[in-house]
Amino acid sequence: TKQYRVALIPGDGIGPEVVAEGVKVLKEIEKVDSTVSFSFTEFPWGCEYYLENGKMMDDNALEQLKDYDAIYLGAVGYPGVPDHISLRDLLIKIRKGFDQYVNLRPVTLLHPELTPLKSKAEKDIDMLVIRENSEGEYAGAGEWLFKDKPEEVVLQTGVFSRKGTERIIRHAYEEARKTNRTLTSISKGNALNYSMVFWDQIFEEVGKEYPDVQTYSYLVDAASLYFVSQPERFEVVVTSNLFGDIVTDIGAAITGGLGLATGANINPEKKYPSMFEPVHGSAPDIAGKGVANPIAAIWSVSQMLDFFEMEEWGEAVLTTIKKIIKEGTYLTPDLGGNASTEELGNRFVELLLLENS
Ligand code: NAD
Ligand code: IPM
Ligand code: MN
Repeated sequence: TKQYRVALIPGDGIGPEVVAEGVKVLKEIEKVDSTVSFSFTEFPWGCEYYLENGKMMDDNALEQLKDYDAIYLGAVGYPGVPDHISLRDLLIKIRKGFDQYVNLRPVTLLHPELTPLKSKAEKDIDMLVIRENSEGEYAGAGEWLFKDKPEEVVLQTGVFSRKGTERIIRHAYEEARKTNRTLTSISKGNALNYSMVFWDQIFEEVGKEYPDVQTYSYLVDAASLYFVSQPERFEVVVTSNLFGDIVTDIGAAITGGLGLATGANINPEKKYPSMFEPVHGSAPDIAGKGVANPIAAIWSVSQMLDFFEMEEWGEAVLTTIKKIIKEGTYLTPDLGGNASTEELGNRFVELLLLENS
């Protein structure tokens, strides 16, 4: 039996509500598949923890997490704690601290009725956005000068190292080559005369080693337009940390909303654990009501199973997501249904086991 140790950080708002359903899926899988077992350790970190202890996580949090096979995170951030503290001291700290420099965010239309785009079908919206996840605009470098004086100036510096830029772009080329898809780089070299000129240069340089990969390079503004007007242009996409954050929310909008969008934070070298999480946040507007859509979090479980090289289960989970959407009777309000988070989760495992036990 293969044993996997999963660290749970349910976090804030709807985080715990959706993580519970994802864990349910893993527990059902281990029930019917005797070759695998999961153990779960829950960490109580997040905004409530901060209000009690003055910190988002323990000081040695990374030390505590480092031997897990994966981290499964719900969402972080809640009114009452400044967002730049809650997010930088937990989510971004883990991504950076564990060198999870590859953020895999599929933008895939799972059912034709989920897209608000007229005349777009599944074949038109099927891409993988590979977001740089360790530096760039999120490096946290900057300065606050002359605070509260008339000459006050703030600097927020993007940090694009050759190593960091090359490795994410190379990863994307490898993915495009392996899956025989086109690769599109999204940048902004016309205005950002250091970072994005460098990015474009490296995209071209590394590309010389991949003559078999068809490439495109778009400015982020035009790319945002094409995400909506012609998403069929994109197959594999590589972009910087901030641009990746923004275009993947556009990706969510064209594929059914944040309740369906997932992201895997990967350390490809497996030197540190990788982290799996829905793209959405803590959704304070619906937290505690039991109506959050758990599908994004369940899709994260599918990504985790792929990462554990249990691709058959990963695929089975994704297929079941498509099925429950098609069935249409157990969907949460964001998808026009009236099921609760838990009802959707319960029906999900029923459907999963129907086909896979
Ligand atoms: P959000 O993703 O929490 O919510 C945006 C909108 O989408 C809301 O209307 C919400 O109800 C809806 N939504 C999100 N997830 C949903 C789901 N699973 N089912 C149904 N509806 C869903 O974004 P926000 O409101 O900008 O941010 C709220 C907090 O979350 C902030 O503190 C923010 O910093 C944080 N945040 C955290 C993460 C993360 O932990 N990865 C991601 C984004 C935002
Ligand atoms: C995401 C989130 C985070 C990000 C925030 C909460 C720091 O929006 O995972 O998309 O910008 O990466
Ligand atoms: Mn985001």
